[in-house]
Amino acid sequence: MKISPKHLRYSWNFARQGMAHMNLQLLYNCNFHCKICDFWHPEWQAKPKLSLAQVDTIMAKLKGRPPLLISIGGGEPLLHPELVPIARSLCKDHFAVMICNGWFMTRQKARELWEAGLYEVSISVDYLSPDRHDTHRDMPGAHARAIEALKMLIQERVHPHQRVHMITVVMDDNLEDIEPLCELAESIGVTYLVTFHSTSRGRKEKRAAPADVGARLVAIKKRHPKSFVALEGYLESYAQAGEDGEIKPCRAGKNLFNIDCTGAVSTCIDRLDEPVGNILEDDVDTLFQKLSEQQKASTCGACWTSCRGPVETMMYGKERWRNFWDMDNMLKDVPLARS
Ligand SMILES: C[S@@+](CC[C@H](N)C(=O)[O-])C[C@H]1O[C@@H](n2cnc3c(N)ncnc32)[C@H](O)[C@@H]1O
Ligand code: SF4
Ligand code: SF4
Repeated sequence: MKISPKHLRYSWNFARQGMAHMNLQLLYNCNFHCKICDFWHPEWQAKPKLSLAQVDTIMAKLKGRPPLLISIGGGEPLLHPELVPIARSLCKDHFAVMICNGWFMTRQKARELWEAGLYEVSISVDYLSPDRHDTHRDMPGAHARAIEALKMLIQERVHPHQRVHMITVVMDDNLEDIEPLCELAESIGVTYLVTFHSTSRGRKEKRAAPADVGARLVAIKKRHPKSFVALEGYLESYAQAGEDGEIKPCRAGKNLFNIDCTGAVSTCIDRLDEPVGNILEDDVDTLFQKLSEQQKASTCGACWTSCRGPVETMMYGKERWRNFWDMDNMLKDVPLARS
């Protein structure tokens, strides 16, 4: 990968344990009704979309600050009519990545998103069996479309540094699927990530895997070191959760934060009901100050999702150099399909 001044500024800020990661819900609209998610419920569907003009305003307000890793999510980001110009706007000063369910991916959209400058796209696949995935996501054909999306994305990249991952939410009933899913990702030519299930917002069913799953995942990673690119330290930490199953302290508000489709700013996606203000209206220094205060006062350690886990592992984990080495695997160039 070519190292630019933007990379150097990001790395410097990261090394100083600054604000490095932003999650962005552009919209809550979604065509799926996943069992583990509530964004498809009517109260979320009624919310507005963040427009391109509003994203430009947010970018202008963040101007001059260190670059962020911005994770575009939702809802289903591919449902946003202005997704491509929004990606372009985000990528000017920051590093934007996206997670989506893959349903609306086309070759043209994949190419446009890569040309807009996205660094990484992850497609959610939670079970090896198409039937189980489709039932869990309440959408017949979801598995097949996700696999097609992965293939289009890997083939349409325009820079070797652009990466495509399959991502699985680790739950209580898909542990046996993790290694075969990793092998499926390998067979498509993409890499594999996991995140851990969270119930810390709304009224979700308890679906968390037992803590010893962390060690099992590390063993799978050792068998698939090139394709299973989740950080070893991230997986290990899940196994080290305390007796209450929590991982504390959480650095959401200090090193990562969330902006939703109304511009509301909160420490994380699971604290949407405790916003510190709105980035479209409020002063950014004041918002960051309030986020920091909320983080210091928080005793929450309720999730170990990939929103917080990898950032915290890299910034605070034991044997940080080992994690940096591991991260290199996630960032390595992958030759273009047509080169
Ligand atoms: C909220 S979704 C938005 C993007 C897109 N709609 C999708 O499903 O990929 C972002 C990621 O969170 C995951 N997710 C959904 N509900 C979750 C939960 N309760 N705990 C942890 N991750 C969850 C999804 O599988 C996806 O990988
Ligand atoms: S596809 Fe994503 S946003 Fe939509 S319901 Fe499922 S997890 Fe939620
Ligand atoms: S542990 Fe942190 S990221 Fe997770 S719900 Fe609590 S405050 Fe949010």
